[in-house]
Amino acid sequence: SQTNIFPDKSTNTYSYKASIIKGSEDNLQNIEGSYLGPVLRVKKGDKVRVRYENQIPAESIVHWHGLHVSHENDGHPAHVIGEGDTYYYEFEVMNRAGTYWFHPHPHRHTGEQVYQGLAGLFIVSDKEEEKLNLPQGEYDIPVVIQDRTFDDNKQLQYLGDGQMDRMQGFLGEQILINGKIDNTLELGANGKYRLRLLNGSNSRAYKLAWDHGEAITVLGVDGGLLKAPKRMPYLMLGPAQRVDIWLDLSQQVENSRIKLVHLPISLDMMGGGMMNGGMMGNSNSNHLPYDTQFDIMEINVGASAENDAQLPGELSSLNTLAATDAINKNNPRTFTFAMGGMMEWTINGHTYNGTEVAEEETVKLDTTEIWRINNGSQFSSDPDDDSGMMGGGMHGNGGMMGGQGGMGNMMQMPHPVHIHQLQFNILNRNADKVDDKLWEATKDGFINEGRQDSVYLLPGMQMDLIMRFEDFKGLFLYHCHNLEHEDMGMMRNFKIV
Ligand code: C2O
Ligand code: CU
Ligand code: CU
Repeated sequence: SQTNIFPDKSTNTYSYKASIIKGSEDNLQNIEGSYLGPVLRVKKGDKVRVRYENQIPAESIVHWHGLHVSHENDGHPAHVIGEGDTYYYEFEVMNRAGTYWFHPHPHRHTGEQVYQGLAGLFIVSDKEEEKLNLPQGEYDIPVVIQDRTFDDNKQLQYLGDGQMDRMQGFLGEQILINGKIDNTLELGANGKYRLRLLNGSNSRAYKLAWDHGEAITVLGVDGGLLKAPKRMPYLMLGPAQRVDIWLDLSQQVENSRIKLVHLPISLDMMGGGMMNGGMMGNSNSNHLPYDTQFDIMEINVGASAENDAQLPGELSSLNTLAATDAINKNNPRTFTFAMGGMMEWTINGHTYNGTEVAEEETVKLDTTEIWRINNGSQFSSDPDDDSGMMGGGMHGNGGMMGGQGGMGNMMQMPHPVHIHQLQFNILNRNADKVDDKLWEATKDGFINEGRQDSVYLLPGMQMDLIMRFEDFKGLFLYHCHNLEHEDMGMMRNFKIV
């Protein structure tokens, strides 16, 4: 569709346009002036039927990110439909109250289609949450954070030509909030707000903080409310992650302004030097650099808009899976996210291959397991290790690649790891092999509590996740949610039998 992102020129985008056939107005909220998909609001236990009609000139399918649904309802790439075709979803909402979302999932084109505008929110409420006096209606605000680049014609520009851009993932030149270049929210003094943040960016992570120095108060994560609010000096938000935060403007005077900013971190690992210029073609070097501060969103505090919402001391009686529940507690299933031999992003050395499932990817219904995910290179930084093309050919060549560790280390990147169909608990986050400076700058921004479906795995990081496979057998995905990595094949199936 044609969208007015800019006042003077229309921009071509894709959009999810929704209408309600049965249900009520309350189930569908369009974000005014936004090309992004609508906000669908449902209650736990609701039966949802969606008729999805594909009107873009490419194959696509809708994935309900974070929802506990059957294979047929999960938007597996195997179910893509062509232009003009229709797909029916029918499921019961089994998830806890929380901020979920939906986006396309065709293999190789997810990044591009999300980038063009296909993404929307799926907000679930439940009885437990209703008992709390949390902000509602106009005080409950979606905040979808994305980075985008526009060309001189004000058209969305996706990747540059270089292989480099693809390897790194798309990084944009400016921040859009809810699909708008005007990143200001007009809120009322004295109001108490619930901001539902979604990092809907293709590959960029954010280190978020309030510029007036106050802590960020977190209410919930991917899979719903935490047990209790958590105050954090800053927050790391990787692609696909959601976090609900509490914002109390009762200390703010009218006409004041506060900002949510990105704080500098050194994540532009593959951005510089030799790699950038020579070997793999130029990358789009105008993107917002990770290592500078920039504004995410500005809040203009307007006339008083007092509401009686309260920040509860306790939010939910969430049950947490324990290591002792796992059938493999002494022997976690291990998945390593790393660069493979031919400049590919791989999981345990494999890339996506249709509905292929390896033995190590088959799990049993009604069991609880620990998955250990590693961000580690296939290439050792040990100069005696000759494995792989880059490892053998290039490492140890300190001068050329600019580091002793050679290509293996150079090509480490964060991987935002996501598992479909379930919400896990984090048992452990091991940062022993994470660069000290990077860890020091990020460690207070991670949330290990609550149910989550996506985590931001820094280079060298290892995490133990605990999850239960229930209700549905079938084929589901786990993958890197850096959408360019995903499209390059850093995605695999797991099968529940
Ligand atoms: Cu949000 Cu498989 O994706
Ligand atoms: Cu998903
Ligand atoms: Cu990745």
